[in-house]
Amino acid sequence: IGTADVNQAGHLLVGGVDAVKLATEYQTPLIAYDVSKIRQQIHHFKAIFDSAQVKYQISYASKAFATIAMYQLINQEQIHCDVVSGGELYTAVKAGFPIDKVSFHGNNKSREELQFALEHQIGCIIIDNFHEIELLRELTEKSQQSVDVMLRVTPGVSAHTHEYDMTGQEDSKFGFDIKSGQADQAIQQIIATPYLNPVGIHCHIGSQIFAIEGFILAAQKMMQLVLDWKNKFNFETPIVNLGGGFGIRYTDDEQPLQPEVFIQAIIDEIKKIATKNNLKLPEIWIEPGRSIVGAAGVSLYTVGSHKSIPGVRNYLAVDGGMGDNIRPALYQAKYESVVANKMNEPTAQTVSIAGKYCESGDMLAWDQKLPATQAGDIVAMLDTGAYGYSMASNYNRNPRPAVVFCENGKSQLVVKREQWQDMTALDLPLIES
Ligand code: LLP
Repeated sequence: IGTADVNQAGHLLVGGVDAVKLATEYQTPLIAYDVSKIRQQIHHFKAIFDSAQVKYQISYASKAFATIAMYQLINQEQIHCDVVSGGELYTAVKAGFPIDKVSFHGNNKSREELQFALEHQIGCIIIDNFHEIELLRELTEKSQQSVDVMLRVTPGVSAHTHEYDMTGQEDSKFGFDIKSGQADQAIQQIIATPYLNPVGIHCHIGSQIFAIEGFILAAQKMMQLVLDWKNKFNFETPIVNLGGGFGIRYTDDEQPLQPEVFIQAIIDEIKKIATKNNLKLPEIWIEPGRSIVGAAGVSLYTVGSHKSIPGVRNYLAVDGGMGDNIRPALYQAKYESVVANKMNEPTAQTVSIAGKYCESGDMLAWDQKLPATQAGDIVAMLDTGAYGYSMASNYNRNPRPAVVFCENGKSQLVVKREQWQDMTALDLPLIES
C-alpha cells in the first residue's frame, strides 16, 4: 500500500506512532492524523503560489475536518480558513483563531449567525443571495460597522472527478447566476450599500476533481466577470476566489493530478486574461479542504466477527462504520485498508469490511485483499481524514470516535470519545399526565 510506514514489529505507523499502540491507548474506533502530512500539504500549496509570484490566499475549507485543535494547527501554519455555519465559526473563536482570517459561507446564513460573525469582526462574508444582502444591510446599519464581502457566483461549470459540465447557467442552490443578470444586480446593490465593502468574487465548481479543464473554464468565466464589472460599474474586483475541489488518491485506480498542476493552470489562465485585457492581476484565493486533510487521516477499528458465505463473499465486521465514516454508504466512496498489526504478513483473503450499524448498507469497503484476520486485529482504513469525523453521527446511539493527532512519534488526544451517557445528555423524560 503506497507509502504506509511500518515499524520493526510489522505495525503501521501514523506520524511515527505505532497504530496498534494507539488502538490500545485510546481504544477504537479511532481517527488518527499524521499532522506533518497536513503541514506538508499546506507548505506545498504555498510553495506553488510563491514561485509563481502572485498575491494569493489559501483558505482551509474547515467543513472537511473542524475541531479546536485543527483550527489551532491551521493558525500555526498561518493560512486562512472558511466556515459554513455558526457552529464552525464558534469553534474557530474557541480555538483562538484570528477571525479576521475567516470567510463565512452558506446559502442560508441566519440573522444570528451573521450577527455573531459581525461581532467577532469576521474577515469576510461570502454573500450567496439577495436575502443575505438585505440582512447584512440591516445588521451593519444598526451597528454602523463595515464588513468585507465577496459575491458567490455560479459560473455554469460543474466538475465531478473526471468530467465537467459546461452549461452557462448552473442549476444550483448556491450563489448568484451570472447569465440571467443576477450577479450584476447583486454587485450593484452591494456597491450601493454603505457598510458592505465588496472585495471579491467566489465560485466553487465541485469536489474530488481530477480534470483541469473545469478550473480553467471557471477562471475564464470569473475573469470575464471582472472585466464586465470594470466596464459596466467601474468596479475592478481585487480578489478572485476559485473555491476548493482538488482531488486526492483514495485507491490505486485513481491517479489525480498534483495540486501544482491545477494551481499553475489557474494562475497562468488568470495572468493571461488580465494582461490581455489590461486588468490588474487579482489576488487569487483557493479553499482546499479534502486535499489538506484527506491523506493525513487513518481510521482504526478492532476486528470482531467474521462471516463467510461459501462461493459468495467473506465479511469481516469492525467496531465502527457509517457513524464515523458515512462516505462509503452515502457516495459509494472507495478506500484502501490494511491490517495495522500484520503489515508484513502476506495477503491471504479477499474480504469485505462491514460496519456494526444496523443497516445492510453499512459497509466500509468491498473486496479488500488482506492477510488472514481474527478477532482483535486492528484494521486501518487509509486516507479518511476528510469528511469522516466531520460527517459523523450518533446513528444507533453509537458514540462518535475519539480523534488523535500524531507527529514526530508522539500522540495527543484532540477529540474525546463520546460515552453512552452523552447519548442521553439532551434527552428529556416523558412528562406523565
Ligand atoms: N469551498 C466551498 C464553497 C465548498 O463548498 C467546498 C466543499 C470546499 C471549498 C472544499 O472542497 P474540497 O477541497 O474539500 O473538495 N461531503 C463530501 C464533500 C462535500 C464538499 C462540499 N463543499 C464528501 O465527503 O466527499
